[in-house]
Amino acid sequence: MKIICTLNLKGGCAKTTTAVSMAELLATGFKSKRGAVEPGKVLLFDNDKQGNASRLFNQYLGDTEAPAAAVLKRATFRGNTIRHTKIENLDIVPCNYFMELAELEIKADTETPQHDRYRRAFEELKNTPPFGNYDYCIIDNAPDLGMNVINALVAADEIVIPVNLDCYSLDGLEELVDQVNNVRQLNRKAHIAGVLITDYDKSDTSEAAETWLREKSGLPVFNTIIRHSKKVKDSTFYHKTPIAYCVRSGAAQGYKNFILEYMNKPHMAAEQKERG
Ligand SMILES: Nc1ncnc2c1ncn2[C@@H]1O[C@H](COP(=O)(O)OP(=O)(O)OP(=O)(O)O)[C@@H](O)[C@H]1O
Ligand SMILES: [Mg+2]
Repeated sequence: MKIICTLNLKGGCAKTTTAVSMAELLATGFKSKRGAVEPGKVLLFDNDKQGNASRLFNQYLGDTEAPAAAVLKRATFRGNTIRHTKIENLDIVPCNYFMELAELEIKADTETPQHDRYRRAFEELKNTPPFGNYDYCIIDNAPDLGMNVINALVAADEIVIPVNLDCYSLDGLEELVDQVNNVRQLNRKAHIAGVLITDYDKSDTSEAAETWLREKSGLPVFNTIIRHSKKVKDSTFYHKTPIAYCVRSGAAQGYKNFILEYMNKPHMAAEQKERG
């Protein structure tokens, strides 16, 4: 199981849109002019108390502790924390505002380590049929570095950083990379797969920002760009990912191209080969 986080300390830069689109595309598989991806078994972990990914798949719980908070507290996926979605091959661990209480609770517990609860839960999950056979877990993170997000980074294999090209998100990148490097002391295998430019509208400023990102930031940047598509915002009202709601939109096509680019990265190719 490859654990992939979407991460950015800035809000509203398409972390959730990227996570849900990746989850759906990896679960259903697809064919396009540029290539094909086979369906895989995917777990989407909503790690944001806003619960936006959970809402999208109609799995938001209004007034009881959501499973993601339980996993943080108990360091296990046992106890009905994993829910099926309507999409074959795609399961979800829903989140809600109880995550904030869970964070306070584990901070008060000074006896047990706080940062490796998800890692322990994933280790157990890998050895627990029938759930042990996920190919991917996509973790959609909150725009902060709360203990739940630290836990996600300590469990992660790869980090995808969605950015939209405004000054605030570019300014925050350096701090984000510092924080990822700090966490790498606890998890050497975690690394930044790349920065993904999202919600892109062509203008002189966005072109200049893209050039800076590619040439000066020192970070790996995916060639694929996700374009702004008006229908993406509409899709949230219908509780659908852009893939399900507007597959012909520039954004949905962009996410397909992104998955193909992501899968063709050398380490991913090696992993696919391993899986046969
Ligand atoms: N390519 C796109 N085209 C148009 N709108 C987009 C695109 N990508 C994302 N959006 C919209 O931008 C808004 C923010 O996206 P999203 O919720 O994915 O960001 P986020 O980083 O997860 O935010 P938060 O930090 O609050 O969790 C949403 O309304 C979403 O529908
Ligand atoms: Mg979000």
